[in-house]
Amino acid sequence: MGVSKNSMLYWFPKLEEMGIPVPKTEFTHIGLDTKNDMWAVDIDKKEMKEAVEKVGGYPVFLRTDHISSKHEMSMGSRATGDDELRHCAEHLVEKTMMIMTVGLNVLAIREWIEINHYYRAFGFPHARDEYKTPIGFEMRYFIRDGEIECKHFYWVKGSIRRADRDNWKSLHDTTKRETLRQFEKDDVDSLVLKIAEEFKGYWSVDVAMDVDGNYYVIDMAEGEESYHKPECENAPDVMMRIYGNSEYVEEETDE
Ligand SMILES: Nc1ncnc2c1ncn2[C@@H]1O[C@H](COP(=O)(O)OP(=O)(O)OP(=O)(O)O)[C@@H](O)[C@H]1O
Ligand SMILES: [Mg+2]
Repeated sequence: MGVSKNSMLYWFPKLEEMGIPVPKTEFTHIGLDTKNDMWAVDIDKKEMKEAVEKVGGYPVFLRTDHISSKHEMSMGSRATGDDELRHCAEHLVEKTMMIMTVGLNVLAIREWIEINHYYRAFGFPHARDEYKTPIGFEMRYFIRDGEIECKHFYWVKGSIRRADRDNWKSLHDTTKRETLRQFEKDDVDSLVLKIAEEFKGYWSVDVAMDVDGNYYVIDMAEGEESYHKPECENAPDVMMRIYGNSEYVEEETDE
C-alpha cells in the first residue's frame, strides 16, 4: 500500500522540489514496537537532535506527517529544548493512537515560523504567551483541476477558546480583513496556482504569512477530507451539520 495523499511524505517533497516556499522540515522515524506494546515509543533522540540542528535550532514546530497539536502547542507542537521535544513527540503519537483513524509514519521537525498575528488563543490557561496559538495571517485555498475554487481565512471565529485579549472578537475581524487584503495585494493566488498545476484533483492548501511578510505553504490535504467553512457554497452539507456556522460566537454570560 502506498503512502496516503494526506501524508506530508506525499505532498511535501513535491512542494520542495517545485521551489515553493515551505518551512525547513526534517522527517524523523518513530520506532513503534507494534508487536509487543503499541504505546512503547522509541524516539531516536540523536536523529531528532540532528533534525533540530538542520532546521536552524530551537524553537521548532513539531507534527506528524498527518497531524499537529495546534490547539495545545505546548503539548505537542512547540518545543524549545530536548525535553519538550521528546514530550511533544510522545504526545503526538498518543494522540494519533487515540484518534485511531489517522495515519502515522514519521515525525516532522520544522523551523518555527513567527506568523503575523494580533492575538493568541487556546493553550493551557497558565501557559506562557509564546505557547499560546497565534491566530494569525493564514488562508486556506481549495484548488480543483488546476484552478482555485475558493479561499477562506483559515481560523474559525466560532472555535476560538481562551483568547488572550478581551477585545479578541474585533481583533479577529481585523485579522481576517487584513489577511484577505494582504494576500490579494501580494498575489498569493499565483503561488497557489503553481501548486494547482502540479497537484491534479481536489486539494486544500494552507498558506501563512510571517511577521516579515514572507509566505509559507504550511499544509495540504485532500479537499474532501479538509475542514471547509460551512457557509461556503462549495462546502459539503455535512460541514454545517457537524460544525455549524463558523462565525457564530456564543454570547458570554456572567456566571
Ligand atoms: N512551522 C511552523 N511554525 C509556527 N507555527 C506553525 C508552523 N506550522 C504550522 N503552524 C501553525 O499550526 C497550525 C497547524 O499546523 P498544520 O497545518 O501543520 O497542522 P494540522 O494539524 O495538519 O492542521 P489542519 O487542522 O489545518 O490540517 C498552522 O495553521 C499554523 O497556525
Ligand atoms: Mg492538516
